[in-house]
Amino acid sequence: MKSEIIQISDDLFLKLGKMLTERYGIKMSIEKKIMFQSRLQKRLRELNMISFDEYAIRLLDSNLGTEEFSVLADFISTNKTEFFRESAHFDFLTDIVLPQFQKQMPNYRISQMKIWSAGCSSGQEAYSVAITIEEFIRTSGCNLSYFITATDISTRMLKAAKEAIYPMEQVDEISMELKRKYFLKSKSSNDQKVRLVKEIRNKVRFGYLNLMDDLYELKDDFNVVFLRNTLIYFEQAVQIEILTKVLDRLVDGGFLFIGHSESLINMNLPIRSIAPSVYVKKI
Ligand SMILES: C[S@@+](CC[C@H](N)C(=O)[O-])C[C@H]1O[C@@H](n2cnc3c(N)ncnc32)[C@H](O)[C@@H]1O
Repeated sequence: MKSEIIQISDDLFLKLGKMLTERYGIKMSIEKKIMFQSRLQKRLRELNMISFDEYAIRLLDSNLGTEEFSVLADFISTNKTEFFRESAHFDFLTDIVLPQFQKQMPNYRISQMKIWSAGCSSGQEAYSVAITIEEFIRTSGCNLSYFITATDISTRMLKAAKEAIYPMEQVDEISMELKRKYFLKSKSSNDQKVRLVKEIRNKVRFGYLNLMDDLYELKDDFNVVFLRNTLIYFEQAVQIEILTKVLDRLVDGGFLFIGHSESLINMNLPIRSIAPSVYVKKI
């Protein structure tokens, strides 16, 4: 039997939407009501709830609310990602960023290159960076040391990212040579999966970080930041606040990558454009 759709009123949607925007920056205009309602059906059923009013009580509960908001953000945020997404960025890393870093390394104060994938979803972006750097090291013969920090608000995505196990189709577009080197194949023939090799997994540390937080609790400053396809979900004023905090953690002369459909026009930030959706922090 088909179960009935549980409806949310405009008022309650706007109230919860406002709270979500305040906590996570996610834009929540009334056009998103149907999406919100349909994505939350599963969660309400998991909790045996029959109305959004009941769900709102859980969200506002002082004990359960914080955790439930994070579950809610998980249900409604878009986690779409893929290996080597917007591949020109990985070519730019190989052709411009890594040779520059290699040249500077002997006189550089920091001997390890540090990269941050902010809004990393299930990890494919961070692992694509690691593979790109490994290939650069192999072909150039240089002795470059690096480490990648990858952060997100979705605990579900972070768990998947740490496991680094993906359906086989996700690596369809990757060359056979790279697949052989960096991915292990599952033994089961009816559920084909791949897993990143340990050497690559060990190069990335995943952790929770809400870009809306006032202070980013990160150990390092970074030479390269990937902040791609994440800003798009925020209002422009919030984007500027986030970019200001992110740029604070980028070293002078460091590189910022944003998504191809995102724009930093008229934001007056201390960066200059160097290639499509790639910026350098001004010295
Ligand atoms: C569409 S994915 C982008 C993944 C990857 N950067 C890429 O370009 O393929 C956007 C990610 O941003 C995360 N996100 C949304 N709001 C966030 C916030 N306030 N702080 C940190 N991450 C957030 C989502 O959980 C999601 O995984």
